[in-house]
Amino acid sequence: MTGSNTPSTDPAPIKACTVSRDVQNFDLLIEDMESILGESWGDLGFDEAQAFLSQDDADTLEFIALAVDEVDEDDLSQLTAIITAAKSRGVKVILIAEDVTPASLHQLLRSGADEFVPYPLPEGELNGAVLRLRRPAGPTTADAGTVAADTSGVKLRGGGDGVIIAVQSMAGGAGGSTLAVNLAWELVNTGKTKPPRVCLLDLGLQFGSVATYLDLERRDAVVELLSNVENMDGDSFGQALSVFEEKLHVLTSPADILPLDLLGPDEIQKIINIAREHFDFVVIDMPPSFVQWSETILNAAQVYFAVIELDMRSAQNVIRLKRALQSEDLPFDKVRFVLNRGPKFTDLQGKSRAKRMAESLGISIDLHLADGGRAVTEACDHGIPLASHAAKNPLRKDIAKLAQSLHDIGRSDAEAA
Ligand SMILES: Nc1ncnc2c1ncn2[C@@H]1O[C@H](COP(=O)(O)OP(=O)(O)OP(=O)(O)O)[C@@H](O)[C@H]1O
Ligand SMILES: [Mg+2]
Repeated sequence: MTGSNTPSTDPAPIKACTVSRDVQNFDLLIEDMESILGESWGDLGFDEAQAFLSQDDADTLEFIALAVDEVDEDDLSQLTAIITAAKSRGVKVILIAEDVTPASLHQLLRSGADEFVPYPLPEGELNGAVLRLRRPAGPTTADAGTVAADTSGVKLRGGGDGVIIAVQSMAGGAGGSTLAVNLAWELVNTGKTKPPRVCLLDLGLQFGSVATYLDLERRDAVVELLSNVENMDGDSFGQALSVFEEKLHVLTSPADILPLDLLGPDEIQKIINIAREHFDFVVIDMPPSFVQWSETILNAAQVYFAVIELDMRSAQNVIRLKRALQSEDLPFDKVRFVLNRGPKFTDLQGKSRAKRMAESLGISIDLHLADGGRAVTEACDHGIPLASHAAKNPLRKDIAKLAQSLHDIGRSDAEAA
């Protein structure tokens, strides 16, 4: 049997081990281990693993791939003991899980597993996890900002109680800003008789791309506003807003990079309160990182969209987000997952991958957004919404539908009030 070498006796240097009830249940794992490590890996049962990890020989292992399914859930304590033993030897743990309940998965991750990969293994994902173990992830990419002169601001009406919709990408480039920008624009255009007042806040303070996507100036008044939130009022807020096509009000990110901790929870709360007072809908493009004030937005928002893609980066980050929110007793249930560039209707394999990803993460994916192809990037680069650049684009249709349903919900809330 391939990989059946017992690590303590095999002469080839063993760099990693699978640990499972029976590795034959995980044949894709065998294939992936072989392609990553050749012959330099072994397989262990749970009891063997515990015994082996208590020996000094185990120190030479780089990682174990702990593969579990629903049958193994009955003995979580043994699994967590294996993880703890590995960690105490400095051996990394990749958790591979098939049909395991979210509660068990959560417990296993909390006990120290470094990486998680759902089973059946998506193509290349084990390799990706191993590479990440070897080299911690670097910072995300940036987009170039444009510096522009200030022009006159906006005079606002007050007295409203707007709906807050936050959008966050679960991985850089997943599509959060594209959704935020186009959703805000579709919302402006939903009401037939009386269009709703919509404000788009780019809180990606450092590398926010809304200004680029709508070809707006990054006004100096934005920095002035953000550095003096304490004294902000409706007027100074209005002064800092740019207007897109006379309809959509936008607080762009500043021209210069500001520290993310320039704003604390109190300042963010104040900005939201003022925005909500003056607009029917406030769409917030969140930075990809989880910051001090993310909690403020999470609590204030009626809807919090987390944009994911069908890849491991998103899956990993969902797990991290879930862990972080649950450990702080924050409302994880409020997060609505949006699968961007989702599989097409006819892509049955892709659809079943999406289903499995949702199951293994213990989330429901409420919304699928189509891949809109090159036209989407073109629209972003030209600084115009999809509705104007490619009205028939499938992504545009999906976002318009979403805007319509949010508009209807907002209206029925207002009528009920
Ligand atoms: N459904 C889609 N179909 C085609 N292209 C898309 C789609 N969604 C996003 N894109 C393109 O992917 C790129 C990244 O999108 P976007 O800036 O919205 O991601 P983001 O997650 O906000 O990124 P960042 O991490 O920089 O904040 C853009 O060029 C955009 O045009
Ligand atoms: Mg973005």
